[in-house]
Amino acid sequence: MALPSRTTPPVLSCAALDATPHQIFREMRPHFPFIERDDGVILVLRARDVERLITDQRTRQIETELLRSKGVGPGPVMDLVSNSLLFSNGETHRRRRQPLSRAFAFRMMEGLRPTVRSLAEALVDEKRDSGLLHLRDDFASLVPAITLAAILGIPRTDVPVFTALSYRVSKILTSSWTRDDLPDIEQATQDLTLYIEALIEDRRRHPRPDFLSDYVETVDRAGAMTALEAIMQIVSVVLGGSDTTRAAIVVMAGLLLEHGLWQELRRQPALIGAVVSESLRCEPAVGSVPRLTIEEIELDGAVVPAGRPVLLSTMSALRDPEVFPNPDRFELTRPTLRWHPVFGGGEHRCLGEALAKIEMEEALSVLLAALPDPRIDGQGLTIHGHAGVRKVEELTLRWH
Ligand code: HEM
Repeated sequence: MALPSRTTPPVLSCAALDATPHQIFREMRPHFPFIERDDGVILVLRARDVERLITDQRTRQIETELLRSKGVGPGPVMDLVSNSLLFSNGETHRRRRQPLSRAFAFRMMEGLRPTVRSLAEALVDEKRDSGLLHLRDDFASLVPAITLAAILGIPRTDVPVFTALSYRVSKILTSSWTRDDLPDIEQATQDLTLYIEALIEDRRRHPRPDFLSDYVETVDRAGAMTALEAIMQIVSVVLGGSDTTRAAIVVMAGLLLEHGLWQELRRQPALIGAVVSESLRCEPAVGSVPRLTIEEIELDGAVVPAGRPVLLSTMSALRDPEVFPNPDRFELTRPTLRWHPVFGGGEHRCLGEALAKIEMEEALSVLLAALPDPRIDGQGLTIHGHAGVRKVEELTLRWH
């Protein structure tokens, strides 16, 4: 079959992309700098273009354009997207991010490392004698959720409530939601918003020495955010920090086991940091970074028009052979990516990067130490999605 000319990149459906994303990216990348989705969204494929466009002055962060193009009207989801730091620009973005920045700085997060470690140890200890671990639901989901609960001062008993809600809301950040999913996403967004609103109100009335009380005090003193904005930054943190890290932990353990590298890493635990980086490269928990073109942009002879939502496909870029030799191989010894593209870039660079890395490192280190020889029982590592937040299926481990 003759390929369309380079100046008119092919149009593909979301379903086709979701079915075999790596294969499509591998086949298209040498011929086309970008492909178009049948909903009009453009996916930029090559590593050098993705890296450049993340901070290019001819792009800005997407706001509500993608939602509106999918026909989403006023309601809880629109409230979230139009008030979140993730989907804002310039001064609005700065005043929304500023009250969170200090708390999530690398230095502050390092202080949480021992807490994350002992939490991960306790979760594995509970299951050790049973010889069976549902890695996603009984471990990978709980490490980020309980850590977030500790940061925000949420009672541990509420963890199942807010995690279940946040997984339902985060569907809006995946590549695969349809209009049929919208009523449930709207409902979950409303419930999560009300839950966070109640927490904030509680700290306003009964401040205590925790992150959320400091946040409320800072926000109230500055008076620069509306009440809804103040709530939505915390909802954004809960969303950003739940599904992403859950998937990343499952993917990391799954890749190691499927490639028969568990024992080798047990012998060389100094490589854990490199494995965190390599698993985020091979199968990123977030597959793209969203932007909007504000001017026409030419890429290798093809033109992305102005005013178009673009997804900078980190998932494709991280397997671009121009930058990564043998890109489809999962390798323990590949150099660590210090400034990993999976966390985006510029002013929107992931706020939770330091925390995510600590959670992944400690989770893996604890699993390796506690489980000398686990095997995957049943379905292997299964990841859904070609862009945005990706979802993982349960991965069951057995030993004895
Ligand atoms: C492996 C785990 C994670 C990955 C791959 C990831 C990836 C990303 C990406 C790609 C962005 C958008 C960057 C951009 O537009 O340039 C982002 C933003 C964000 N992330 Fe993460 N993230 C992860 C974990 C976390 C955690 C643990 C938290 C919080 C506890 C978090 C909170 C946020 C927030 C609040 C933003 C919005 C930042 C802004 O727009 O200024 N993320 N993340």
